[in-house]
This record gives sequence, structure tokens and C-alpha cells, in this order.
Amino acid sequence: MGDTLRIGVLISGGGSNLQSIMDAVASGSIPSAKIVAVISSRKDAFGLERAKKAGIETFFIDPKKCVSAEEYSLIIADTLANRSVGLVCLAGFMHKIENPLISRFAGKIMNIHPALLPKYGGKGMYGHFVHEAVLKSGDQESGPSVHFVDEEYDHGPVILQKKVAVLPGDTPEKLAKRVLTEEHTIYPEAVKLFSEGKLKIVDGKVNIKKSD
Ligand code: GRF
Repeated sequence: MGDTLRIGVLISGGGSNLQSIMDAVASGSIPSAKIVAVISSRKDAFGLERAKKAGIETFFIDPKKCVSAEEYSLIIADTLANRSVGLVCLAGFMHKIENPLISRFAGKIMNIHPALLPKYGGKGMYGHFVHEAVLKSGDQESGPSVHFVDEEYDHGPVILQKKVAVLPGDTPEKLAKRVLTEEHTIYPEAVKLFSEGKLKIVDGKVNIKKSD
């Protein structure tokens, strides 16, 4: 058994994805991992309460107190590095992260997005707007993507996706709920694969090593 993977999670809101990773770690589904820090960009994010309840160290780091996005990313990067974090999970984090955070954790930052990337990603494509765009397009399916993070919004190599049907009579809220249910399965699964050293980026694509 290898070393314990130390995970930092970045949130801005409810933290249901954070909860799914916390639950997977607590239940032993992700055996050699520990969440060592939860950082929120919002003081009132409910995810902070979830983390505190589980005894995880929490931080509210206020973007408004920073002169630039780079300074904000630097403070976050230092907070994570000081706790020897080996994987950073963005889970509903509503800020674009910059260098030095991206460069210092290259290949070690994941994000979850509520659409089948590369469709419906990029600036302005979050929450409600994503599902509205999917419904407008007439697509028959949607679903979440977990991907590695690079310098562009929602752009890095996809790790896992799960398709869900778009149903007649769907509203953005109904579709969001169906997609979120699957997010809670694929995010812990992606973290588990990472913790087992099974994810490799080759030519801009993720290779998943098969179980022995
Ligand atoms: C999720 O829909 C995720 O795909 C997006 O933000 C939302 C976060 O939800 N990036 P929660 O805070 O994890 O409940």
C-alpha cells in the first residue's frame, strides 16, 4: 500500500460533491486518501459546515481581499502546499484558478463540470446556464465530466464522464438534479483512480490503467 494521498478541496457553495468525496474516503472506498483542507471563496458556503462536522481543517479565503487572481491563487497554493496536498479537487469552486496554483500542482488538479465536455464548457458556462444551453440545443443526452485542470476554462483532459438522458418536459432544474446525482458517483471514482496511480496523461488525453 502506498502513501496516503492528501487532498485539498476548493468550494464556493453547497459542497455536495465535497460530501461525496468525504463519504468515499470515510467508508474506505478510497482507502489511501485523506482530505486535509477545504478552502472556500465564500464565507457562508454550506460545504464549510460539512467539512467542519467531519473534523477537516477549513479556510475561508476571500478573493475580494486580493489585488489580482494571481495573488488569490498564490495564497491558495501556499495553503495547500503547507499541508503537503497531492491532489486538488475543485468542487463547485466559482473562480478561475491561475498560476502559480496551476503550475505548482500540474497534473494534480481536477474539476467537475455538469456537462459532457468539450460541449457546454468555458466562461459563463456554469450551473443553470449549462443546463439551459443543453435544453435549448435539443441534445438527447447530457451528464457530468471530471477533468484535469489546465490554464483554460473547462479545457483539460477528461478523466470520466457519465451520460444521462435529457427527458421530455425537462427544466434546467430537473436536468441539473439528474446530472448532480451522477457527479456524486464519478467524482469519487476519479479521485480513487488518481489515488491508485491509475491516471496518466498521454498526448493530452487521460489513459486509465486497468485493474490488475
Ligand atoms: C456542480 O454542479 C458542479 O458540476 C459544478 O458546481 C456544482 C457544485 O455543486 N462545478 P456542489 O457545491 O458540489 O453541491
